[in-house]
Amino acid sequence: MKPSTISLVLFLISSFSPLFAASNNGDTRIKLEENKQPHVKRSDFPPGFLFGAATSAYQIEGAYLEDAKSLSNWDAFCHSTGCSVDGENGDIADDHYHMFLEDIDAMHSLGLDSYRFSISWARILPRGRFGEVNSAGIIFYNKIIDNLILKGIKPFVTLNHNDFPQELEDKYGSWLDPEMQEDFLYLAEVCFKSFGDRVKYWVTINEPNMFVELAYELGIFPPSRCSQPFGNCLHGNSDVEPLIAMHNMLLAHGRATKLYHENFQPKQGGLIGLVVHCFMYEPLTDSELDREAAKRAFAFDVGWPLDPTIFGDYPEEMHKYLGSKLPSFSLQEKKFMKNSIDFIGINHYSALYSKDCTNSSCSAVGNSSIQGFVDKVVERDGVLIGEPTGLDYLFVVPRGMEEIVNLIKIRYNNKPMFITENGYSSPDLQEQRVSMLLNDVKRVEFHESYLASLTKSMRDGANVRGYFVWSLMDGYEWSQGYNVRFGLYYVDRQTLTRVPKLSARWYKKFLTNNSVLINQNASRNERLFGKDVI
Ligand code: BGC
Repeated sequence: MKPSTISLVLFLISSFSPLFAASNNGDTRIKLEENKQPHVKRSDFPPGFLFGAATSAYQIEGAYLEDAKSLSNWDAFCHSTGCSVDGENGDIADDHYHMFLEDIDAMHSLGLDSYRFSISWARILPRGRFGEVNSAGIIFYNKIIDNLILKGIKPFVTLNHNDFPQELEDKYGSWLDPEMQEDFLYLAEVCFKSFGDRVKYWVTINEPNMFVELAYELGIFPPSRCSQPFGNCLHGNSDVEPLIAMHNMLLAHGRATKLYHENFQPKQGGLIGLVVHCFMYEPLTDSELDREAAKRAFAFDVGWPLDPTIFGDYPEEMHKYLGSKLPSFSLQEKKFMKNSIDFIGINHYSALYSKDCTNSSCSAVGNSSIQGFVDKVVERDGVLIGEPTGLDYLFVVPRGMEEIVNLIKIRYNNKPMFITENGYSSPDLQEQRVSMLLNDVKRVEFHESYLASLTKSMRDGANVRGYFVWSLMDGYEWSQGYNVRFGLYYVDRQTLTRVPKLSARWYKKFLTNNSVLINQNASRNERLFGKDVI
């Protein structure tokens, strides 16, 4: 995924800064603040802490028209304009629809406590609330849930992760219309009724903040709506539509959680939350203005979806800078939005620097109200914020984990948190051989250092209940197609064979809590993975 704000900045930097270009070629001028590899053990986490791995339906399921599933927005998008840089789509993806038993075996072999996956809305309700429930879809997810439970793995289910029946787009414009709330509520009810006896962790929506930015501000995701300077789209308004879509997503979330809390939770006893994409925003300089900009960046990105679900309204900063552009909640809506979550789902990958635009010159994007008058940049004094990854807006910044968890802890009064996604994709993958992809030492180092950073915040009292690696296996990385790989398992694109990477062996070792003997004479791989783990 590519937030334009960042891509644009990156584009400008890479076009004009020789430093950046050089550092992309492996120049040692990239200074990492954390260059000492930490040692982290499962026993550093409290008993009952859930360790898992995550995926989403469109990214792995395939079987895009099987068993009465309808076309989703992503199917339609990929089959019309083309959706990714490699010209690929999710028609087959990892064929998880047919290979789920093998995949559950892999999860079991890793020793996962939990598996986070999402429901394909178009598989369960091909026509939304305008048609029948598709029993084949219900059967498919029942099989997944039952087989997970059989192996002692707790299902952690997301109701919506970027995809929905295309009919809802064609009929009324999906998330731009309040009708979508009714459809989401119906999906939620069908899922609580069908699966809630066994599913104890629910997420209503994955990353509404990232989704509306990509779909309605940058126009990279369907329905490809945006306006200048964010992108070139046929239709849309990047200053306003993300706010409207988010408002409908939040009300859909709030209404679904109300339904769960009132009608299902008392009997089923599960928890329900919202997952938010959380960049850590650090001030670019020590100036008061940049420190304020970092706070604003947080409010306009993370606080935007989270404040309403805990306090019942949008952040003050958004009211101040957006005025009447910001949709408002009625008194009755504020009441059910407030405290509508049992936990906060944090998807954390990276950090960015924030530069004030209220008082200094910035990019056109940074100068916009929807961005809170903040430019987000990746370099300070010619030094990148962290080591680059396979996505040009994500960098390895382990300290960001501790910082973001602490911020969220303080702002939301230590509400229970799950790290619902954290993962690494290697740069320049097209040029790498399979053996290099399998020998993913960088991914292991990434997880070790982010986990170590997480333990710091937890030692300071952060109420974090679980951690999910993104992703269980290489999948369809949206507009990046299949060349960006996040998986613990390598997936061969021709045969769809799954092969455990070193990171899978490391995770298994980590989860079995065999504290690794630090034998300085043993090879690094032996120390990390043992001799024979998978
Ligand atoms: C999304 C995933 C995506 C991952 C890596 C997250 O923001 O939830 O669907 O694959 O980032 O880009």
